[in-house]
Amino acid sequence: MTQTSQPKNFAHEMIEDSNPTNNLDFQTVISRRLQRRSLLKGGAGLTAAAFFGALPLVGCQSDEGDNLIPAGGDNQAAVPASGSLSRPEALKFNAVAHSTAAQMSVAKGYSAEIILPLGTPLMPGLEDWRDDRLQSAESFEWRVGDNHDGMWFFGKQGSSYHPKASDNGLLVMNHEYVNSEELSPFGYKVLDNNNAAPIFQKRRLASDVRREVNCHGVCVAELQKRSHGRGYELVPVSKYNRRITSSTVTQLSGPVAGSDWVKTKFDPTGHQTRGINNNCGAGLSPWGTYLTTEENFVGVFARGQDDSKLTAAQNYGRARYGANPNFAGNGYFWHTPAAGEAIFEDEFSRWDMTAVAANATEDYRNNFNTFGYITEIDPFDPRSVSKKRTALGRFAHENCAYAPVVEGKPVVFYMGDDARGEYIYKFVSSALWSNKDIGGGLKAGDKYMDKGTLYVAVFHEDGRGEWRALVYGQNSLDSTNSELPFYGQDEVLIFARAAADALGATKMDRPEWVSVSPITGEVYVTLTNNKYRGEKSDQPLSASNPRSYHVGGKARGNNNGHIIRWAETGGDHAATSFEWDIYLFAAPYDLAAENLSALTAKNDFSSPDGLYFDPRGVLWIQTDDGAYTDTSSCMLLAALPGKVNDGAPITTSANQASFMGKTASEDTIKRFFVGPKGCEVTGITLTPDFKTLFVNIQHPEESWGAVAGGSTPRSATVMITKDDGDVILAESVNQA
Ligand code: FEO
Ligand code: CA
Ligand code: CA
Ligand code: CA
Repeated sequence: MTQTSQPKNFAHEMIEDSNPTNNLDFQTVISRRLQRRSLLKGGAGLTAAAFFGALPLVGCQSDEGDNLIPAGGDNQAAVPASGSLSRPEALKFNAVAHSTAAQMSVAKGYSAEIILPLGTPLMPGLEDWRDDRLQSAESFEWRVGDNHDGMWFFGKQGSSYHPKASDNGLLVMNHEYVNSEELSPFGYKVLDNNNAAPIFQKRRLASDVRREVNCHGVCVAELQKRSHGRGYELVPVSKYNRRITSSTVTQLSGPVAGSDWVKTKFDPTGHQTRGINNNCGAGLSPWGTYLTTEENFVGVFARGQDDSKLTAAQNYGRARYGANPNFAGNGYFWHTPAAGEAIFEDEFSRWDMTAVAANATEDYRNNFNTFGYITEIDPFDPRSVSKKRTALGRFAHENCAYAPVVEGKPVVFYMGDDARGEYIYKFVSSALWSNKDIGGGLKAGDKYMDKGTLYVAVFHEDGRGEWRALVYGQNSLDSTNSELPFYGQDEVLIFARAAADALGATKMDRPEWVSVSPITGEVYVTLTNNKYRGEKSDQPLSASNPRSYHVGGKARGNNNGHIIRWAETGGDHAATSFEWDIYLFAAPYDLAAENLSALTAKNDFSSPDGLYFDPRGVLWIQTDDGAYTDTSSCMLLAALPGKVNDGAPITTSANQASFMGKTASEDTIKRFFVGPKGCEVTGITLTPDFKTLFVNIQHPEESWGAVAGGSTPRSATVMITKDDGDVILAESVNQA
């Protein structure tokens, strides 16, 4: 037995590059420097802003011009307004300095505390985490998982969701992946098995695989405000506390359910699968359920040399999602423990997508196709079976953000596919919104998420854009499609990337989180970085991905990332055209040629990832960076964006024309928090009373705080509160 060392964040860094197209911009650009028209001028129809759910309605005052529509307009029926919090005119807290310390730092006047670290028991009778890691693998079905990511705080009153309740709530959060080295008592232990076929060259211990599988997924934890009134504690005995792991049975819902492409030995009818995996960003539905996402699921699968049993289309479909023949995933080897060690049928073999049997219903060749979806969870119904909402497409989902809902209009969700050169999507429901569905649980999800149209974004060079529909039978999405013929909507959705290729979607610099401004209704997406942009021929520069530069003599493409935004035509989120610009370019403040947004030492950052507009319209930006971490660890910034077209046309150092928003100032973007060394700062949710801001810390490098304790650097949630008990950013709001 040998021990192989494994890079700390090896799974997370599995960033695919499986987009073979040359999509840049489908149509010839008629006039590259066409005078931009203010398609949205006047903001007609921007009812915007009244987010439902846990987002209380707030009034909004702004000095940014009369096109900014105040919140709290048409939708007040859904959630009664509480308070009169407005968006600050300027950020008045003291910026947090760059830091590479082992501990976190937060703005003066605030405190940051750790809660729910990896391994915390979610039921009585389990002992707490121990650094010798001798807790059983099985016990992790009832413990907080690893690498905390997207989350949402659901206010609770009695046994129901209450969007205004802050004293008691359910914190629902993702556990994206695992640091194998730090979970097992043996570290990352593998048996070398050199004579085996490539995908079986390493054999993992059954207990390690089981522990890792259980540390993925989602956790529901009931929290109670502490008696002194600031921050929360876990309710240790609660019927709501539970885990949904990479083994939990999950329903397939929508057009893919029952498709031949998802029939497996586990469910030959193709309606169920086991597990959710690589749950990254998160979202809330307008009716109050949790939307988790499946991102880098390809990393836990393996694929042998099975071409002879597969059609060319099947081979292409796998490769387009990163699984080529003789692929052993990302070093997890979950498929390798001996079958005799399984505690349920095919516990391990289900991660091997090789076609080994005569029929798809006798092996797990299709299991891969049952992952990669937005999954809906009702935290208030602990016995409910979560549903994979297949109508929203299958790709490396980052998060899922809904547009402000309007009675009688479709519900719209925005999503990104985080891999180099992948796309941005939106889903428009067929059903029209009714406020009566708030609190409707998974039944409301059946209504709004199983039928509708999935679109992919094309960003034209002239600052305009369009949405193209992924509908079987339209736009040559049929059996004539060259790379992958489509024979039904199930195939269009399972292979959404291939359908989007055919539609000429724009290849983006790794779309991460999406958030919609409650003030303008404009949609923001972090494009975290892309080292191949402008460096590989299939990732050419474009107006919407306009930077490529060298750092330290090495090509790094778009090394620091940017944030793009757009305004839908007429303010209608179901529109099929929009106008875009780049809100902000990330860069080290002293990298003059790339610091286009004029950042300073108080607000510079790199690799934006998590993104969240709070109900006041404050934009919170989180980073997942490796490019600037010699200067500062990953961080959380607060920002007060304007709107599309508030800046000017630019030309980047790579001689690419683009459109940039108003440059930054320390009044409008400022560093609020820096995480511990080696971490990613991710997952963000604000309680309805605005007094506790939760963020998540993934993979810190060292042990980083008293509560986490011990020698293992554990991922955990952080609660940020204001020392005087006031609302977060109260010092920035003019008290009336
Ligand atoms: Fe899990 Fe794209 O971050
Ligand atoms: Ca992450
Ligand atoms: Ca992310
Ligand atoms: Ca990231």
